[in-house]
Amino acid sequence: MTEPKQLFLNLFEMACVSHITHGLWPLPENNRHRFADLDYWVELAQILEHGGFDGVFLADVIGAYDVFRGGPETALREGLQSPNIDPLLVIPAMAAVTKRLGFGVTFSTTYEPPFAFARRMSTLDHLTKGRVGWNVVTSYLPNAARNFGLDGEIPHDLRYAYADEYLDVLYKLWEGSWDDDAIVADRERKVYTDPAKVRYIDHVGERHRVAGPHIVHPSPQRTPVIFQATGSPAGIEFAGRHAEAVFTGGRTSEEFRRNAATMRAAAVRHGRQEDDIKFIAMAGVVVGRTEEEAEDKWRLYQRNASVDGILAHSSLPVDLTAFPRDIPVREALRRADVPHAAVPFLPLDKTVGQALDFVTGTFRDRFTVVGTPKTVADAIERWLDEDGLDGINLRQYHSFDTARDFAELVVPELRKRGRLPQEGEHPGTLRERLFGGGRSRLPERHIGARYRGGENLGSPVDRLDLVGAGDVASF
Ligand SMILES: Cc1cc2nc3c(=O)[nH]c(=O)nc-3n(C[C@H](O)[C@H](O)[C@H](O)COP(=O)(O)O)c2cc1C
Repeated sequence: MTEPKQLFLNLFEMACVSHITHGLWPLPENNRHRFADLDYWVELAQILEHGGFDGVFLADVIGAYDVFRGGPETALREGLQSPNIDPLLVIPAMAAVTKRLGFGVTFSTTYEPPFAFARRMSTLDHLTKGRVGWNVVTSYLPNAARNFGLDGEIPHDLRYAYADEYLDVLYKLWEGSWDDDAIVADRERKVYTDPAKVRYIDHVGERHRVAGPHIVHPSPQRTPVIFQATGSPAGIEFAGRHAEAVFTGGRTSEEFRRNAATMRAAAVRHGRQEDDIKFIAMAGVVVGRTEEEAEDKWRLYQRNASVDGILAHSSLPVDLTAFPRDIPVREALRRADVPHAAVPFLPLDKTVGQALDFVTGTFRDRFTVVGTPKTVADAIERWLDEDGLDGINLRQYHSFDTARDFAELVVPELRKRGRLPQEGEHPGTLRERLFGGGRSRLPERHIGARYRGGENLGSPVDRLDLVGAGDVASF
């Protein structure tokens, strides 16, 4: 009999008050306001580690949400991803009190140079003993561009072209600059590092010039596990080349499977295997001891959801709340002088009220489940077996209730069904947990491996063929 497929279980976090479930932070006993308190992260890490989670996933932005209503006021009132502290810096505290919990952390390839980031990630991979992953983003907020000296955002596909060179530099530093046996630490000969085993990378590209050598010696995974969330053609091509785990979703099973198949095909185009990419969906799980208790919680969360927070988060360039609920969206756009092309996802023929009800999300998609531990575990087994999902990023409605409820009620049920490792099973590095024992490093067929042993440092990689990336040479 084949073993049942196991779930890769992550909690979705962000070091701010209101990440994605807007309006819920004031609920009784919600700890979200403690996001800048180190004890919050220590307590959370302990809950997750003992509760059977594989990882905590930290989102990040580097600008204010100031498109909705033409300024940051709504976002600030809501605590919407601002204030937002640096997620890289909370990881060592969580690592210190855990042994197996993994850490996925978000960092943007667009604004800060690669050398300093390579150093920070190598540091984290050492300090966590190989439990760190990186969510590669190119940043989507116009305000982020203005924080880093630009007048406005770099076009979408061009950001991915820049990101491609950024990762190339990182692979050279992480994989190529040092050999595994460079550190000899020979007390008698008084030699710490064998200089013959460390080299410059001398990267000269269109956007970056980096000499190296890397300033940190090889960490357990060298390259952290590469995560990415994408839906665009350019992003999918990028994922096909680089990503090891992709956040993808779908309102329905068919939509999810279509998205996953597109990514797998992209991986194969880049000389990789279909199962070199794992799929993680953002999942909403509201669990109770009875169906009624779970439904009550769900209703509480829905009732408190903030329309303003959701609209500001989606950077909606029109304030639908300023119009009567019974007029068509088309009419509201006409009155606001906003072209439909600026909001293609809004249904023109629905009323403003219907559109607002839709965005506040009273519907349940494929990866939302409300019910008893049995109902939840049944749904998760369907996601794994029918859809081909590998993991979930659990949306937090309440901190720490969401994580605690899942740990106490759902984890034992999933363990019973062989869907999670038993307590105390320790798989080593984050990459090993995702891909199986013995695989702490990138596989040979991944593009990052081409620099191992100092090979290929002088030979440029082919440009990623990004649909519509434009003239990359004119950076
Ligand atoms: C689950 C999930 C998490 C994301 N986390 C972040 C984040 O923390 N920071 C960020 O700038 N973008 C984040 N994004 C946005 C993605 O980086 C990306 O911009 C988006 O998925 C659109 O894909 P595209 O750029 O290929 O069009 C996230 C997206 C998803 C679906």
